[in-house]
Amino acid sequence: MIIAVDGPAAAGKGTIARALARHFGFHFLDTGALYRMVGLAAIRAGGEPITTPAAIAAALSLDPASFTDADLRNEKVGAAASIVAVIPEVRAALLEFQRSFARTPPGAVLDGRDIGTVVCPDAHAKLFITASAEVRARRRQLELGATDYEAVLADIRARDARDSQRTAAPLVAATDAVTLDTSEMDINAAVAAAVATVEARRLP
Ligand code: CDP
Repeated sequence: MIIAVDGPAAAGKGTIARALARHFGFHFLDTGALYRMVGLAAIRAGGEPITTPAAIAAALSLDPASFTDADLRNEKVGAAASIVAVIPEVRAALLEFQRSFARTPPGAVLDGRDIGTVVCPDAHAKLFITASAEVRARRRQLELGATDYEAVLADIRARDARDSQRTAAPLVAATDAVTLDTSEMDINAAVAAAVATVEARRLP
């Protein structure tokens, strides 16, 4: 069984996807980390601004050890991820890894931007997790321990625009996804709603 969890930055999809994986005993892949690894490697190899050849080279030679790099969660690396994520060759280089991970028995939960639309269009359950930009900025501010709320909000808006407006696999809910707006939910309520949605899709 494949569960696709998509949505914009800081909507809660990572926490929800991890909780779903735990609940169902499935494997979990944070696909955003792959794009973050490419962004970070491209900066380290070629500096900034990131060039397309540096990004493609980084995507073709990803080092699995960097999956645990502490710098991956920086907002700067999140922005770099969304810059390299517009490049079709980068997306193509990461596609097969994500698809084969999704097929790992007994099941997998993948979170990202294009899981339900491009990576796993045949996923058994698709969730689109969203929340207002203001609520997401508050959450990200807390997570990062950042002081400047307006700067975090501006980053979130810039990333939303880049992710939604790109031509290659833009951020959009799959037509058969269930949308969960978590603006007014705490994380426990959001996880419970997600579990209930997936349970309803499970084969008897
Ligand atoms: O954790 P957060 O939602 O802030 O970001 P993330 O999931 O780590 O993703 C970082 C960036 O990678 C996103 O802004 C997207 O541009 C890109 N991404 C993507 O294009 N496709 C995916 N399946 C996952 C991430």
